[in-house]
Amino acid sequence: MQQITLGIIGGGTVGGGVFQAIQRNGDLMASRLGVRFKIAKVAVRNVEKLRSVRIPKPLLTTSWESIVHDPGINVVLELIGGTTTARSIVLRALEVGKPVVTANKALLSAHGEELFAMAQQYGSNLYYEASVGGGIPVIKVLREGLIGNRITRIYGIVNGTCNYILTRMKLEGAEFREVLADAQRLGYAEAEPSLDIDGHDASHKIGILASLAHGFWVKPKQIHVEGISSISRLDIQFAAQLGYSIKLLGIVKKLENTARGRGSVTKSCAAVQVSVYPVLVPNSHVMASVNHVFNAIYVRGDVVGDTLYYGRGAGQDATASAVLSDLADAALDLKCGSKSRIPPFVPHECEGMVLDIDEVVSRYYVRLTVVDKPGTLAKIAAILGQSKIGISSVIQPEGHEGESVPLILMIHDAPNANMTKALARISRLAVVKAEPKMIRVESFE
Ligand code: NAP
Ligand code: HSE
Repeated sequence: MQQITLGIIGGGTVGGGVFQAIQRNGDLMASRLGVRFKIAKVAVRNVEKLRSVRIPKPLLTTSWESIVHDPGINVVLELIGGTTTARSIVLRALEVGKPVVTANKALLSAHGEELFAMAQQYGSNLYYEASVGGGIPVIKVLREGLIGNRITRIYGIVNGTCNYILTRMKLEGAEFREVLADAQRLGYAEAEPSLDIDGHDASHKIGILASLAHGFWVKPKQIHVEGISSISRLDIQFAAQLGYSIKLLGIVKKLENTARGRGSVTKSCAAVQVSVYPVLVPNSHVMASVNHVFNAIYVRGDVVGDTLYYGRGAGQDATASAVLSDLADAALDLKCGSKSRIPPFVPHECEGMVLDIDEVVSRYYVRLTVVDKPGTLAKIAAILGQSKIGISSVIQPEGHEGESVPLILMIHDAPNANMTKALARISRLAVVKAEPKMIRVESFE
């Protein structure tokens, strides 16, 4: 049987998981693929470190270069994270013609355009199933399964850490910091947890999905990102009373085909919203039931209609499963001499552009902290009316008597720019005692 030799760079949560999964299911994969994997080396920073997955010492090295340049190694796995050394590893491996498997969404977000171009230039391949959705094979879904569809919507709960935190805050009334520590202990969180809680990890992932779906490279700075650190237990409770759950959602919406002039040429182009922010999801919608570390990606295609992909979005085994799927693809591509079965991120039938967040229209939940006296609501309603923003309901929750009380407004569809300007004016009213809290409401239409 043909043997493919692997060099794994990174022996932490994901690298350790891949090592363990190959020990467990290598025979199964060999019987399915007709190819056997052999792990030749594993690069780590510290060979003396105690690891939850034991890797035999003779396999360990601290030199990733020794893996990339070893002529006996057929496939390189970049599983260290970060964007500096990881970029060097991927570039060097591609340059010497080796296929690379990576789980590194931060790397792809920052340097994907360059890395995929290099892969094509050197006739090699870059595989990245584990970069989005943990164990959910969503890259394969968009690249292959839905290739005959125009993708009109993607809604993704794509950060396991944030979903774990929001779920435990809702179900147990737990404190944000305490739950984050648990997510770190369970191996869900990034080495730098602000990547998770400030929404950047989700934006790396949603950028990859948007680029795949729309065929143009969505740059990180084009994605509007808000994280979950400002979500309070109070908002989670009020949202629950109103029939909603708060989720951090990555959203890719194809809005319309517009005409865009470039010199004398006018081309049809797709305006796409690409953003990450916390959202009130109606409890009647399936995405509201995606809890703990689970991710879900809801994809609408113009032929298939609505589809949903669900599974563990982070952690050792889920991520290892996605890496194994890439290894199978790499093995079959090597076996069949295939260079690039489906080229990544190819331009589609029309140009695309990312819509500015100011132009994005949505519904809103607004929580104000106001003085409890007559005339307060009238002042707030007047500003919203002047901004052409309609109120769909007003709730002053019971049991909050005192000087300052919460006032919840549910707002009809309004452009983001109108809403932020109106809230800035409202925050300056003497009757408003704290910074207004605004969370968008998604109806999945
Ligand atoms: P991790 O647990 O921190 O592991 C990183 C590993 O890389 C460690 O073994 C470390 O060595 C090694 N390393 C770091 N710099 C190195 C260098 N210069 N040379 C050789 N080895 C080096 O991280 P992780 O959670 O496995 O994440 C790895 C990648 O997978 C990241 O891109 C992450 O975003 C992505 N990812 C993670 C998950 C998840 O659930 N954790 C899910 C999907 C994708 P030592 O062990 O000696 O320190
Ligand atoms: N930190 C990431 C998350 C790991 O929590 O989703 C999986 O990509």
